[in-house]
Amino acid sequence: MEFPLLRARRLRNKEGIRRLVRETKLDLSDLICPVFVHYREGIKEEIPSMPGVFRYSLDKLIDEVKEIRDLGIPAIILFGIPEHKDHVGSDTWNDEGIIQKALRLIKKEVPDIYVITDVCFCEYTTHGHCGVVINGDVDNDLTLENLKKQVVSHAMNGADMVAPSGMMDGMVKAIRTALDEAGFHHIPIMAYSAKFASAFYGPFRDAAESAPAFGDRRTYQMDPANAREALKEVLLDVEEGADIIMVKPALSYLDVIYRVKEITLLPVCAYNVSGEYSMIKAAGRLGWIDEKRVIWEVLTSIKRAGADMIITYFAKEVAKIINRGE
Ligand code: PBG
Ligand code: ZN
Repeated sequence: MEFPLLRARRLRNKEGIRRLVRETKLDLSDLICPVFVHYREGIKEEIPSMPGVFRYSLDKLIDEVKEIRDLGIPAIILFGIPEHKDHVGSDTWNDEGIIQKALRLIKKEVPDIYVITDVCFCEYTTHGHCGVVINGDVDNDLTLENLKKQVVSHAMNGADMVAPSGMMDGMVKAIRTALDEAGFHHIPIMAYSAKFASAFYGPFRDAAESAPAFGDRRTYQMDPANAREALKEVLLDVEEGADIIMVKPALSYLDVIYRVKEITLLPVCAYNVSGEYSMIKAAGRLGWIDEKRVIWEVLTSIKRAGADMIITYFAKEVAKIINRGE
């Protein structure tokens, strides 16, 4: 008998057959595009460490959101850079806060885009931590009280979904209860359930002016070494009433995405974070990698690991590629 008997290459030898047997497909409907809103006026400012990503003032925001909508991307996630920072981040529940203004404007001008709000305090506090700081650390339960105010304010101003990212214990239940009591039963919660204390958030913190003024986030974000603990966090959030589970970052945590997908029936979101974006942009600019192909490969791998949706700074670029049929 002639060797080799089984020839796997038969299913790879023409584009037609490669398309037919492809297991994972990237689609416009997988994408969530982050948007940074800045309090100042007349601003469309590129983030130096994230080429191609901008911060927009309210007067420039709508053109950007329309462009995202017109590309066929279903959703955005909003991050705010407020004028007013204080010890507790009160801008986050102020009717005239940056996110509240942005929500009202987007819902009026582009009602058909789905708007998720990142729910946290680090961009809004003078110390840059994700809650109320007492004796040098974030106080969990005081922060829950403020989270309730924040989500109700977001819902009242038009948020379609809230995404708490602060890794406080009990945050999902506190938020679910607050939303329900205020009559927002229909607003889902996307929980940043397994969020790791990662160096890959560096460029985001420049963009959002949210780096901690002292210490780090290791008393609330997870140790990158722990996968079983991530599953524990996910099960807790499911029990507390989360609608969608998130793993963040994505690339160094594909195993976590895979394992989370196995233990829950909820949709799973992966956050392809700023540092993951910047690395590819930097190497692409240097001509060291084929940027477009790397982007495609990375996002496909995140889906293959089990993500149903991906928050990514590549969203617009990828949507353009998909729309061109490439
Ligand atoms: C706020 C928040 C962060 C990111 C999303 N929401 C930063 C952090 O936790 O320090 C990171 C996003 C990114 O790096 O793209 N808690
Ligand atoms: Zn935060």
